[in-house]
Amino acid sequence: MQTSNSVKTRKNSKLQRIPPETNALSKNVDLDLLVVNDQLDFRQSASRYLKRMGIRVVEATCGEEALNLTDKKNFDVVILDIHISDMNGIEVLKKLRERAPMPKVIMLAGGGTIANAVDSIKLGAYDFITKPVQLDNLFRAVVLASEKKQLEKENAQLKVVLHRHEKRPNFVGDSPAMQEIFRVIERTAASDKPVLIQGESGTGKELVARAIHQSSPLADKPLFVINCAALAEHLLDSELFGHEKGAFTGAVAAKPGLFEIADGSTLFIDEFGEMSGALQAKLLRVLEDGTMRRVGSITQRKVKVRVIAATNSDLEKDVREKKFREDLYYRMNVLAIKIPPLRMRNGDIRQLVKAFTGDDWSVDDDVMKKFINYSWPGNVRQLQNAIERAKVLADENRIELANIPQAIAESDFKEITENANLSDLDLESLNQLHVLQAYQRCSKNKTKTAKSLGINRRSLYRLLEKYSIE
Ligand SMILES: Nc1ncnc2c1ncn2[C@@H]1O[C@H](COP(=O)(O)OP(=O)(O)OP(=O)(O)O)[C@@H](O)[C@H]1O
Ligand SMILES: [Mg+2]
Repeated sequence: MQTSNSVKTRKNSKLQRIPPETNALSKNVDLDLLVVNDQLDFRQSASRYLKRMGIRVVEATCGEEALNLTDKKNFDVVILDIHISDMNGIEVLKKLRERAPMPKVIMLAGGGTIANAVDSIKLGAYDFITKPVQLDNLFRAVVLASEKKQLEKENAQLKVVLHRHEKRPNFVGDSPAMQEIFRVIERTAASDKPVLIQGESGTGKELVARAIHQSSPLADKPLFVINCAALAEHLLDSELFGHEKGAFTGAVAAKPGLFEIADGSTLFIDEFGEMSGALQAKLLRVLEDGTMRRVGSITQRKVKVRVIAATNSDLEKDVREKKFREDLYYRMNVLAIKIPPLRMRNGDIRQLVKAFTGDDWSVDDDVMKKFINYSWPGNVRQLQNAIERAKVLADENRIELANIPQAIAESDFKEITENANLSDLDLESLNQLHVLQAYQRCSKNKTKTAKSLGINRRSLYRLLEKYSIE
């Protein structure tokens, strides 16, 4: 219902056009804004002005259209006229309040509606501006609102990240395999494509994921982590994609999922092989066109998230056995990193041991030999644990055979050959195995070994050194 007062207000709302100043505020405004107004001249001049200031502006002519748009996309700021033709601006505000995250709403009010505008603040509007609107004031209000919004967003992101943040150890590895992985990390970091990391348990998949994020252009944003094995399917769904209020029992409020929270950053999906078929389909969709849907919602949202996934299951096999979607596998496998188990890169062991003991510790030679020759079914994590344990047991700052777990202390030279599945080995490791076997066959006699390999003693020394074979 229109009062004569508000009609008058509308006539008065002729805009004062002030050319955009080139001030400091106009730099770095990175925000999505929705202008809701049924007056064409206001929409046009406001949106032209704000776009020139670097803001992404979308226009809506009525409340219904505004609500549809905010269903599909998270706007940072909404400029909402209190008086729009199809529904009261206050009603629109109440609906926007149910959005999670709620945009910052700036109400526009005329002479007869200022009291309502004040009320709207109580209802959760961020600010109001009275008509006639000066565009530079509007711009300032938008920037302030978006700064507040940005802070809230960072807070929400930190809350997710904080309790998952662990101290990051040095990432080391001399072996040709690890050196190649470091090169691949650099190359993949520059891209925004998804990455698939495969490797046995404890090989350093999470470390690789963190390294990729940290070397990428998104490094200043937080890395989000989710572990698919830790959550039941429906919880995982709502953690990843969010849910609407009432989507299931217990969904008392709408909640954005990690894909929305991590928008603009990297999401690390750990134990990716554990995802159910339905979730694999949702993930494929968001990888293909950046769209996703909250649980219990029919509207699509658009997000831009870089996905890094890790798994220790044999995905090729899962695909053959139809346990894992082939299309998703191929989509993820474009940038793939396979981390070899520790027993196939024992050239890394000295450096890892040093990294885990610290400089002020010494490690007995016979311990180091055992470490180098052991098969490490638990990979780097097992080595790290063995060293932590040894440091507790050791007297001085010196690790002896008595301080390491029995299984390792009693292991012998054969294990690497027994455990090595030849088809898994790269050329370099095959070479290593070849040298190692020749050395064993010749009872560690260097002259004989060199002869049997057809190389001179000096070359043999170099190889033994390179492969950390004593
Ligand atoms: N190359 C490395 N240099 C230093 N530390 C490493 C290296 N690789 C692994 N680690 C350490 O070993 C432990 C296991 O690594 P991480 O958690 O990344 O393995 P993972 O492959 O994710 O294991 P899981 O499959 O069990 O989740 C971590 O404490 C990690 O810091
Ligand atoms: Mg892990």
